[in-house]
Amino acid sequence: MELPYVVLRELTLTDVEDRYKWCLDKEVIRYLNMPSKYPPFSRKETEDWIAACMNKTNGYHQKSITTKEGNHIGWVDLKNVDKLNKHAELGIAIGDKTYWGRGYGLSAMKEILRWGFDQLDLNKIWLRVEVDNVKAIASYKRIGYVEEGILRQDRLRDGEFVDRLRMSVLRSEFFDK
Ligand SMILES: CC(C)(COP(=O)(O)OP(=O)(O)OC[C@H]1O[C@@H](n2cnc3c(N)ncnc32)[C@H](O)[C@@H]1OP(=O)(O)O)[C@@H](O)C(=O)NCCC(=O)NCCS
Repeated sequence: MELPYVVLRELTLTDVEDRYKWCLDKEVIRYLNMPSKYPPFSRKETEDWIAACMNKTNGYHQKSITTKEGNHIGWVDLKNVDKLNKHAELGIAIGDKTYWGRGYGLSAMKEILRWGFDQLDLNKIWLRVEVDNVKAIASYKRIGYVEEGILRQDRLRDGEFVDRLRMSVLRSEFFDK
């Protein structure tokens, strides 16, 4: 199946409103590593976060995902960059739910993986996903991620500790596909 075309562009302050709105949607944020309070972030906190990403002061390489028509639909990032061992952690969210299950997540991941391996010279790009986030795990497997192991009680979600699965894809596996 051909993947839909996406553009990964730099964040701008005009992204703040969409981001704030998406974080009000409990279905979107359920599996995202955010505070349990609701809303998880105020507008001001959202703006400060985007500004920190733009100024590269928080260690995140975060990009906005847009469709070929220019619709802003989510974000994707690489963080915890370990230059010595050449690996980093991936995070992704399609915030606009109308784009779920249409291949946009896969397409955005493919782009950031290519960028991370080429531009950051990484050897491995790993991620942590809650074990009951079935849809996300299926997407990761589809792109070539394999399981590394279970991180026990790794996230405190709504007052309950949940296990997370650690997965990764290696440069050699990604470019072999
Ligand atoms: C997890 C998430 C990023 C996945 O992104 P997505 O765009 O919804 O999913 P994908 O790109 O993998 O889409 C694949 C699905 O689209 C279908 N699809 C439709 N058209 C397609 C195409 N042209 N190419 C590929 N797949 C297509 C696939 O068959 C598959 O459907 P299925 O799951 O019913 O088998 C997204 O659902 C999300 O943001 N969720 C909330 C936040 C979250 O959980 N983030 C991850 C935290 S670890």
